[in-house]
Amino acid sequence: MATLASKKNDKKSQTSTSKSSQTMNSKTSQDGSSKTSQDGTKSSQDGTSKSSQEGFTKASQDGSSKMGSSSSSSNSNGAGKSKSGKQQKTLENLLEDGLKDIYSAEKQLMEALPKMAKAAGSEELQDAFEEHLQQTKRHIERLDKVFARLEMEATEEEECEAMKGLITEAEKVIEEYAPSSVKDSALIICAQKVEHYEIASYGSICELADVLGHGAIVNLLDRTLQEEGDTDHKLSALAQQINDEAFEESQQNSESGRGGYQMSNMSNYEEADFG
Ligand SMILES: [Fe+2]
Repeated sequence: MATLASKKNDKKSQTSTSKSSQTMNSKTSQDGSSKTSQDGTKSSQDGTSKSSQEGFTKASQDGSSKMGSSSSSSNSNGAGKSKSGKQQKTLENLLEDGLKDIYSAEKQLMEALPKMAKAAGSEELQDAFEEHLQQTKRHIERLDKVFARLEMEATEEEECEAMKGLITEAEKVIEEYAPSSVKDSALIICAQKVEHYEIASYGSICELADVLGHGAIVNLLDRTLQEEGDTDHKLSALAQQINDEAFEESQQNSESGRGGYQMSNMSNYEEADFG
């Protein structure tokens, strides 16, 4: 397996479009706008600001440990313990941890998407969830290839807590909301939170892989990153349509005395000074 030094030499020749989520994050914070929640990937594509991950580049220059070791065994590969007893992790360890995290996340999502599709009332939303299920299976296959390339064992032993929480939120919506356009709107919100977690994860992983000279892995996972972005855009378009339907539905419920959205309350908000 190539050492870090040789990987760094190869790095320049390996193209990358992976500035994505890291760039997105810094750009978003500079704008202070809410573009990212509905349009995250688009903002990443035109980003020119440098990633905060650059700060890691210097740190990685000391590292000589090989990829392919688990975090727990990394001591034998140069990731020793500091005086505090904590592991002295390298960028390679960080990449490995990130890959295992997103692998667990994808596996959990693969289980959740059929339930979300079943709960959706809109046929288009059902199709979107089912299509993303097929994509998710491909994403897992790509990660399997990445693990094989890095001579790492693909494992789910460390569960992604973030995805677990996001799926719990979706399950709450499935259980608590009666079938309606509002429920579909809520499911889209859950799904977009998932997408944004995946975009952030793959963006970070691609950035780390790029710094470490794993160009082939960047190219492979950048395809996944693009697909996550495409899914997010599709959900945004669906949200516009379904939110309108949910609004009309709520108004009708209100008019028929079923406790829907109260327009009288809206007039109060319109008069309020939010400045
Ligand atoms: Fe995915």
